[in-house]
Amino acid sequence: MEKILIIEDDADLAETCRRLFRRAGYDAQAVYDGGEGLERLAADPDLSIILTDLRMPGMDGTEVLQRAKQIRPEVDVVIMTGYGTIQNAIQAMKIGATDYITKPFDRHELLRVVSQILEARSLRREVGRLREELRSTFGFANLIGRCPAMLRVFSQIQAACSHESSVLIVGETGTGKELVARAIHYNGARRDRAFVPVNCGAIPRDLIENELFGHARGAFTGATSETIGLFRAADRGTLFLDELAEMPLETQSKLLRVLEDRRIRRVGETGETEIDVRFLAAMGLTPDEAIGKGKLRGDLFFRVGVITIELPPLRERGEDLALLTQHFLEKFNRVFPRRIDAVAPAAMDLLAAYEWPGNVRELEHVIEALFAMGTSERIEAEQLPARVRSAGSRTGGTAVGPSTPAAPEAARQMEVPDTLSDAEQRAIQDALRVAKGNKSRAAALLGISRTRLYKKIRDYGLADDEVPE
Ligand SMILES: Nc1ncnc2c1ncn2[C@@H]1O[C@H](COP(=O)(O)OP(=O)(O)OP(=O)(O)O)[C@@H](O)[C@H]1O
Ligand SMILES: [Mg+2]
Repeated sequence: MEKILIIEDDADLAETCRRLFRRAGYDAQAVYDGGEGLERLAADPDLSIILTDLRMPGMDGTEVLQRAKQIRPEVDVVIMTGYGTIQNAIQAMKIGATDYITKPFDRHELLRVVSQILEARSLRREVGRLREELRSTFGFANLIGRCPAMLRVFSQIQAACSHESSVLIVGETGTGKELVARAIHYNGARRDRAFVPVNCGAIPRDLIENELFGHARGAFTGATSETIGLFRAADRGTLFLDELAEMPLETQSKLLRVLEDRRIRRVGETGETEIDVRFLAAMGLTPDEAIGKGKLRGDLFFRVGVITIELPPLRERGEDLALLTQHFLEKFNRVFPRRIDAVAPAAMDLLAAYEWPGNVRELEHVIEALFAMGTSERIEAEQLPARVRSAGSRTGGTAVGPSTPAAPEAARQMEVPDTLSDAEQRAIQDALRVAKGNKSRAAALLGISRTRLYKKIRDYGLADDEVPE
């Protein structure tokens, strides 16, 4: 609970105030000089509101205010002042007092000032909490990845957060382009402003300029009202131009001019308006492909792609597959009433062998579907969609059944890098070797319980010769 401190050299008045607040349900204390008040403030982190008299022997109210702000910048200080010193109270407001109140005071006025401050404090806390929440939703915490290509992406995002250059994000569908764009916005200086996504492929060609630039009333037949346009909607914030290569080439050249001049002219208007927008863009083609196919203007690319972030396809992300699988299990365990806590090794091998044309989004959907329809607490190979199951048998001449123990070999032949379960299996074998087959020691080495180790040996189907007793 937030506490109130009254600093007032007139002891009777101080007590009256204190009692008034107490009766209204506040935790209030009173002291009779500034020095003592500051000591209390320093000692009590819950003390958040100070009401101080202005004219006091020794330290006056202005000094109390200044020192209190040094001790705790977020403290609210209300100056209590007699009629003759209002000018000083106004001065105090300029150096950081939250409010002032004139003596003799009306008790309602006193309570109103304090309750207003408390309300503002709780709003500030709520806004702070919401911002934190947004930051953690779109911050790096939600972008899972540990493979070298993703580590590079993270460092590019970090760099992109600290300046204002345009960024082009490229990657196949479902690789997380929009997630990266949001991470850049929500971790950068414009985080408290709008993030405006535009899917350039979804807006009809003849409407796109209208959407982007807006139009004045009467600009064309049917333009009965005016629109501000997306550039201006994103003013002081970030405009995310998704599917940039789907934007008509004429519009691309207009966009280039906006990027260069930072000014726009609405359709049907003569004057230009300055805009302060950060541009992020994304597309599914690589810049070479897009320019080669005549879908992206080279000059626009040089302007937009000052920094180009390339997102790797899921099939090239190695151990990230297991990491992402775990992440989505955790996510859907929070959403669905049932629990799935593990992936059978055979199922993991299939996931590793599959191509994932829809990348992370496809993986997310596969796992979500298992939550929606599956029944077991572990994802089994046979529960996976047919396209994923057949992946294990598409490995050229060395066709293997989807759930045979040979599946890890298949994954390796396809040069799918290690999965987490491969690494785990190897760690178990190494530990058993070092412990000379003593399972209690091996378990201790691995930092897991003996029962857990037995279960893993069983799950991985480790043969007896690999597991010396
Ligand atoms: N690295 C990642 N970590 C966690 N989730 C991810 C990651 N990458 C993508 N996702 C999830 O995958 C889904 C697709 O991501 P997103 O929409 O950002 O992809 P995209 O590249 O914009 O796809 P498209 O080209 O189809 O628009 C989202 O639900 C996103 O949360
Ligand atoms: Mg997208």
